[in-house]
Amino acid sequence: MRVGYGRSVFERLLPIILGRDVSGEVVAVGSEVKSVCVGQQVFGALHPTAIRGTYTDYAILSQDEEASAIPFAALTAWRALNGTARITEGQRILVIGGGGAVGFSAIQFAVAAGCPVTTTCGSQSIERMLAAGAEQAVDYLSEDYELSIKGKFDAVLDTIGVAETERMGISFLKRGGHYMTLQGEAASLSDKLGLTLGLPAATVFLLKKQIQYRVVNGIEYSWIFMRADIEGLTEIRKLCEAGKMKIPVDKTFPITQVSEAHEAKDKRIVQGKVVLEFD
Ligand SMILES: NC(=O)c1ccc[n+]([C@@H]2O[C@H](COP(=O)([O-])OP(=O)(O)OC[C@H]3O[C@@H](n4cnc5c(N)ncnc54)[C@H](OP(=O)(O)O)[C@@H]3O)[C@@H](O)[C@H]2O)c1
Repeated sequence: MRVGYGRSVFERLLPIILGRDVSGEVVAVGSEVKSVCVGQQVFGALHPTAIRGTYTDYAILSQDEEASAIPFAALTAWRALNGTARITEGQRILVIGGGGAVGFSAIQFAVAAGCPVTTTCGSQSIERMLAAGAEQAVDYLSEDYELSIKGKFDAVLDTIGVAETERMGISFLKRGGHYMTLQGEAASLSDKLGLTLGLPAATVFLLKKQIQYRVVNGIEYSWIFMRADIEGLTEIRKLCEAGKMKIPVDKTFPITQVSEAHEAKDKRIVQGKVVLEFD
């Protein structure tokens, strides 16, 4: 967003406050809020289009968003596996990019649901993937890594979503399986063409791909967008409490160093999640 992603929505609303994930203490509630009370410790995630983000001392969330949870990344993974592919025990899942926050959440969801998981990740992430219960973790920088991936899958979550990973993901699906990418074109086409042309163009683009993949490969193709939903938050909280879901935090920055924190992610100096802390 800082470099212009989503400008078709956000440009006319500038200045906006960045940030989606939040944790802290409830200081006030609306008159109809029943699910949380003042003083309670909560985690949450704002909607992707929120303009008053969470890089602030005080954030405003709707009741749904307020339920305790590990937020944005886990909700995105939940939306893919449970909202779209509706995975069931025993189904085989391939997570492309398990080293990232969404991919790692997806692995933990799938393992908790009793699904065998294969993932691609950097060599430094392999041990973490296996410890989280993945059956196989393959280094995406090793030569011919695709040859090491065995069998076909019921669902593929592609957190990278470039042409190469899409081709690979599709080729590993069983007929009737789901390919899900996090890199839907709705925002990029709207940013390029403006909202009025961009959104219909994205819909046509998506429909064309869905029809093409259904006819040629017999698979379902979807773009995944994070949504805060109460069922997902509840499940995530349960898994966290049972120690079955963890998102490692790599580094903490004070809120006054937001730009340094972004730079550390942009330049890949820090691999995992970054947390901004308030005094
Ligand atoms: N659509 C949505 O609603 C939504 C929601 C959240 C995020 N996203 C997008 O989804 C993407 C992932 O988000 P994230 O928060 O999980 O990112 P992240 O935590 O920054 O993770 C990125 C990871 O991808 C891995 N990687 C890079 N290239 C790879 C490749 N060719 N094959 C396999 N793994 C590769 C790296 O893992 P290693 O460390 O193992 O090398 C890296 O750590 C981002 O582009 C983000 O903007 C979309």
